[in-house]
Amino acid sequence: MAGRVSGKVVLLTGGAMGLGKAATKALQAEGATVIITDIDEVAGRATAAELGCDYLPQDVTDWERWQAVIAEVEAKHGRLDVLVNNAAITVFGSIADISPEDFKRCYTVDVDSIFMGCKAAIPLMTRSGGGSIVNFSSAAGNKVSPDLAAYNSAKAAVVTLTKSIALYCAREQNGVRVNSVQPGTILTPNVESVIAGTPDPDATRAAFSVAQPIGRMGEVDDIAHLVVYLASDESKFATGAPFIVDGGLSIA
Ligand SMILES: NC(=O)c1ccc[n+]([C@@H]2O[C@H](COP(=O)([O-])OP(=O)(O)OC[C@H]3O[C@@H](n4cnc5c(N)ncnc54)[C@H](O)[C@@H]3O)[C@@H](O)[C@H]2O)c1
Repeated sequence: MAGRVSGKVVLLTGGAMGLGKAATKALQAEGATVIITDIDEVAGRATAAELGCDYLPQDVTDWERWQAVIAEVEAKHGRLDVLVNNAAITVFGSIADISPEDFKRCYTVDVDSIFMGCKAAIPLMTRSGGGSIVNFSSAAGNKVSPDLAAYNSAKAAVVTLTKSIALYCAREQNGVRVNSVQPGTILTPNVESVIAGTPDPDATRAAFSVAQPIGRMGEVDDIAHLVVYLASDESKFATGAPFIVDGGLSIA
């Protein structure tokens, strides 16, 4: 039986670990050919070897590299159907604590990268007959904290940037859909290490869990399944939308 994304060529940033790795596995299981990129070459190559996919080194903040990556995908596969802009960093700090440099760094990695990825990929996706772009925002774009000034606002910007690009694609009638995803707290290795680095990890784990009204953190598959849906033609009427999968965090 054909998979839900059979025959689709997917480029996914930040695929070495966490949600990107889980989404790659889920997309492959449904028949996609996935190319992962990551700034961490050791982890990127290890994940690609483990999953049996291609890996391209990439810093998503580098515009020239974006153009080269898209050209490499076109040279090897002749098309691009799905772009998953997953790579991001979390920068902690309140307005008082965070330096202007760190604030800008968060925006460069979390927002500029999505602008560049969409700008580089849309022409090839258009030549491929259309496609789907999935931009990673976060429930942190809705539910803010005094100590996440940069990350909260950057992830909110991703939602609005996504809407603008979606309307552009609709106006062009190029067949490219663009949506954002807003996960709640998901138990990735990254989140595990944040918990482990706090003075009282058990208390932090409990606080992270109850922040979601359904009383637990999410699992990576909760988001991987959403990415498969958005990558697939099942979501063909969805564009410009923020997909909130957060155990109720945004509405609490
Ligand atoms: N884990 C969560 O609880 C959670 C919740 C909401 C949203 N998100 C979002 O989901 C996405 C994935 O989160 P995760 O927890 O799996 O993150 P992660 O830190 O585990 O993985 C992110 C990957 O991006 C890569 N990366 C970082 N900077 C890069 C750069 N400049 N160029 C290329 N690659 C780079 C890292 O090497 C890493 O492999 C992010 O956009 C994150 O903001 C995560």
